[in-house]
Amino acid sequence: MKIAVLTGGGDCPGLNGAIKWVTKTALDPKLEEKRSVKFEVLGIMNGWKGLVEVNPDDPESCARHLKHLDEEVVRTWDRLGGTNLGTSRTNPFNPKNDRSEKLLENIGRLGIDVIVAIGGEDTLGVAHKLHRHGIKTVGIPKTIDNDLSSTDYSLGFDTAVNVIMEEIDRLRTTAGSHGRIFVVETMGRHAGWLALHGGECSGAYMILIPEYPFDMNRICELLREREGREIQYSILVVSEGAELGDMQGFYKDEKIDDFGHRSLGGIAKYVSEEIEKKTGLESRCVILSHLQRGGAPSAHDRLMARRFGIAAIDMVLHENFGRMVSLLHGDITSVSLKEVIDQLKLVDIDKYYDVERYNGRRSIL
Ligand code: F6P
Repeated sequence: MKIAVLTGGGDCPGLNGAIKWVTKTALDPKLEEKRSVKFEVLGIMNGWKGLVEVNPDDPESCARHLKHLDEEVVRTWDRLGGTNLGTSRTNPFNPKNDRSEKLLENIGRLGIDVIVAIGGEDTLGVAHKLHRHGIKTVGIPKTIDNDLSSTDYSLGFDTAVNVIMEEIDRLRTTAGSHGRIFVVETMGRHAGWLALHGGECSGAYMILIPEYPFDMNRICELLREREGREIQYSILVVSEGAELGDMQGFYKDEKIDDFGHRSLGGIAKYVSEEIEKKTGLESRCVILSHLQRGGAPSAHDRLMARRFGIAAIDMVLHENFGRMVSLLHGDITSVSLKEVIDQLKLVDIDKYYDVERYNGRRSIL
């Protein structure tokens, strides 16, 4: 049975570990003895792009778009960040440039029996559509935003939260020396998990998330409440997708990707400048941007990558197709791809957010 594995969307630490454990589990000689099936693992380069663009009759094209995977090739991958298979935001089902026929044709011509797609809502949305076309697909959740529904965890989130925490720790010393305010912008297109967890574990004074539109006057009021106390500086964390009353989002440019998304960025600069204008307090901003997706995976991401990779092969063996590996209440299980892509997992304001303080709640039970 030929298993193709690919990574799509934004890269993050944990992807290489998942590829490693898909490969190792599929090709494990001890497990192979007990199975009635023998696997072969084929890496697809650059997500769905590789599978659309490959010409199966041309060896040069195959060498560019495909990568044979075995235990030796993936041996050290679990400690490496990024994705050694490359990634893209290619959407073969984009109605403005539909290449799904080519995709289906190539899957058939390459003799692929199963596709393991590692990605977020977009990549898994394609896996879901392929499954509806009769292709056997299995998903592994990945997104530093941690906003995929029906799973408590998506690869990359823990490492990104650690980056936010470490960078804020660094900022504190300089913020303190100068008595400045720092507004730190995290990723998180629709969901505030990164800002909320990053801000909570680094003790930020305010955390602004997309799920609760904020008001500049209230922010300034909260900053003034600190006046006269010994505190010399304040750290605010703002999610790139946070919303300011009726104002439109802050975008880097006009470009729209294959899945219809625009690149967010710049809200921290606006908040910082408004603070200076309205309060006279000195303020700076830092956009953490892709630093949050860089570096080696944390211990948690390595562990989850391993478990998700192993579970994906279990799903192939049990013919659990059209589904995604998931972590629910501490257990690894599987959920339907349809359920995953139907809606995003947003921060439940009533449960986790204090709308008065613009911060995590101080009552948990
Ligand atoms: O989807 C994950 C994510 O990191 C978002 O948080 C962010 O908005 C987006 O990707 C950035 O994408 P790109 O790498 O294409 O700039």
